[in-house]
Amino acid sequence: MLEDLFHSPTSLSLLGVIMGLLVLHFFYSNFSFQEKGTEPPGPKPLPLLGNLLQVDLKKLDSSLFDLSKKYGPVFTVYFGLKKVIVLAGYRTVKQALVNHAEDFGDREVTPIFYDFHKGHGILFSNGNTWKEMRRFALTTLRDFGMGKKITEGKIIEECHYLIEEFEQHDGKAFNNTQTINYAASNIISAIMFGRRFEYKDPVFQAMVERDHESIRLTGSASILMYNVLPWLGPWLKNWKELMKNVEDNKRETNNIIADLKETLNPEMCRCFVDVFLNRQQNLEVSEIKDSHYNDENLVYSVMNLFAAGTETTGNTLQWCLVFMAKYPHIQDQVQEELSRVVGSRQVQVEDRKNLPYTDAVIHESQRLANIVPMAIPHKTSRDVTFQGYFVKEGTTVFPLLTSVLYDENEWESPHTFNPSHFLDKEGKFIRRDAFMPFSAGRRVCLGESLARMELFLFLTSLLQRFRFTPPPGVSEDELDLTPVVGFTLSPSPHELCAVCRK
Ligand code: HEM
Repeated sequence: MLEDLFHSPTSLSLLGVIMGLLVLHFFYSNFSFQEKGTEPPGPKPLPLLGNLLQVDLKKLDSSLFDLSKKYGPVFTVYFGLKKVIVLAGYRTVKQALVNHAEDFGDREVTPIFYDFHKGHGILFSNGNTWKEMRRFALTTLRDFGMGKKITEGKIIEECHYLIEEFEQHDGKAFNNTQTINYAASNIISAIMFGRRFEYKDPVFQAMVERDHESIRLTGSASILMYNVLPWLGPWLKNWKELMKNVEDNKRETNNIIADLKETLNPEMCRCFVDVFLNRQQNLEVSEIKDSHYNDENLVYSVMNLFAAGTETTGNTLQWCLVFMAKYPHIQDQVQEELSRVVGSRQVQVEDRKNLPYTDAVIHESQRLANIVPMAIPHKTSRDVTFQGYFVKEGTTVFPLLTSVLYDENEWESPHTFNPSHFLDKEGKFIRRDAFMPFSAGRRVCLGESLARMELFLFLTSLLQRFRFTPPPGVSEDELDLTPVVGFTLSPSPHELCAVCRK
């Protein structure tokens, strides 16, 4: 289809006009920028292409990390005409996101993010919508037990379903991706909808699978190009697939919301959706106009939490298991600690403080897995002078979490799986400031405490029950740690054996 476009005379003239405008825009934006202060350094951009030829779109985070070694912790890259400021290294990322939290705290709503949610919900919104929806989500998640005992019970119950599912493979090699994602999804579903789903439920399976695919496609080279040249959209297969996924998940989410609405009882709030619907009805009764409690903010907030709460935790748990299979001596030490401290009873959150090695292994897995390598793009909310450089209001900012989690000034062996990063000489757990997989500042992950509880309980329960090994005939050395690059970094497709421990 794209080829047809280049052969039609009308389209060619249209393209000519667009190109002309783009060139003008490029020179204008650079010129006006330089007038106000020193621009952060960076590779010299080519007209129209910017630095697209100097970065590897298939491994963008590591490519930008390499550039930071040449241009320093604050540098400029042009994706076509789009100027992006990259922040690299623990000190710089922390200084920007925490010390200049307001300045660097807006979300960059790229064309694809805008297509997703049109500015509604939490992840891809700004201003008052974001403030109200984020505050509401945090309060409601906490009221429904995020980080508390009630959620612990739900996760423990889900551990049993997950273990049952793993047992069915009878020690034979299998791909655990979907099952783990279903388990993680059921925790956020219990809070959002007041219920868990059967792993075999086709609607649930399809919702989880669509989110999984969408996260992969959002980081694909063609969607990164779409963000630079949005008019390409209708010709891109990935874009069409993404739009369909979002629409399908929106329809399914609305169906669940409609069911909950039918049985809504203001006296008994069962879940997040109930609290939202009650708030919406109360505001309607009081005739308050312009409220943020509208249907679009409800469906998109729910979709944000469902997707963010499923894929990230599921993905990290898969990495943990791959690391365990790859480094059996480390798995031995976790299992030894679990047997010594907990024995065969169910692990509880309370136990974490007595399981320093296990805690260190979970932290190290999150550090090395680095699943959200560039956070989610930010944007400056006003003009700011940062480390002597002028950054204009509305400039896109990439806080490069890869450069924090692999910062050579912070970690003794940044590229090695080394739980000692989180242990002192006596073997006690130590926190490390540069441990920032959830990002930091105003936009810090709002599910952090839930995710931490899930990772701890799921991983310990699985390791109490199973020994994880590569499939027969595959050595530990052959287990591939090269990630699949999407919007997140996930383990490449693999199978593991979950062998029941005696
Ligand atoms: C291991 C699991 C997780 C990791 C590594 C993770 C990581 C992140 C990161 C890096 C961001 C972007 C922060 C930024 O823009 O600076 C983020 C945002 C977010 N996360 Fe998570 N997350 C995890 C689990 C969860 C869970 C379980 C939930 C749901 C309860 C969740 C909900 C969100 C939301 C709603 C945002 C957007 C915040 C905003 O824009 O204000 N995340 N997360």
